[in-house]
Amino acid sequence: VEDAPARGLHVVITAGPTREPLDPVRYLSNHSSGKMGFALAAAAAELGARVSLISGPVSLPTPAGVERTDVETARQMHEASRRLAADCDLFIGCAAVADYRAATAAEHKIKKREGEEGLTLKLIKNPDIIADIAHTRDAAGGRPFVVGFAAETRDLEAYARDKLERKRLDMIVANDVSAAGLGFGADDNAALLLWRDGEGEGGEQLPPQPKRELARAVIERALGCLTSRPVH
Ligand code: PMT
Repeated sequence: VEDAPARGLHVVITAGPTREPLDPVRYLSNHSSGKMGFALAAAAAELGARVSLISGPVSLPTPAGVERTDVETARQMHEASRRLAADCDLFIGCAAVADYRAATAAEHKIKKREGEEGLTLKLIKNPDIIADIAHTRDAAGGRPFVVGFAAETRDLEAYARDKLERKRLDMIVANDVSAAGLGFGADDNAALLLWRDGEGEGGEQLPPQPKRELARAVIERALGCLTSRPVH
């Protein structure tokens, strides 16, 4: 159908930050607002897909026609992603997942100690959600088309290519998050799209534009790959 190319497809998208507790009143997190991921969810729904949006703590309304699951920590986002991605066609990891969490979150508020200048926190690695999804195959031996994001402040293309390969993604949306007015929290974004398997050699540059428009372009490129790729 011309106006609903994603009809019949299930798309799962992660968005926003994760929040990793240090004690009952403090946490580790980042500046993701969820705008990029919510724009992707809106675009996929407008194109006719059934959309599951897994969101960290953000203050944004749920886009029309989107089914939303709220989570806080990376481990909760991982659990929801595994559950919802089990029957999905396209998985997009736009969330800024905390790479580390406190080894043990304190049961009570951490007290300031007199006579000690510093406080050492022990952090341990969180699961890599998108790498796990990309390595998972369903009973029929298939897997979703997996699109990751790369948020970099330097050497954008080299780091993004490394993530594309290492996490076994099909496509990656690399954004320079040090550029003024783009990236975290902004209404606009720009990106370099890269594919695995030599497709679109050299990548495709998407210039600065509203996240809503960039999201539409990303979803359209992913849908194009999804319908042209061999069934396995
Ligand atoms: O939310 P906004 O304010 O609109 O900002 C948008 C954004 C800048 C957050 C977004 O465009 C973006 O770049 N999202 C990815 C942020 C990120 O954490 O990138 P990364 O390079 O650290 O991670 C690479 C990929 O692995 C991402 O797809 C990420 O979701 C995924 N990942 C990372 C760590 C982890 N433990 N599990 C993951 O799945």
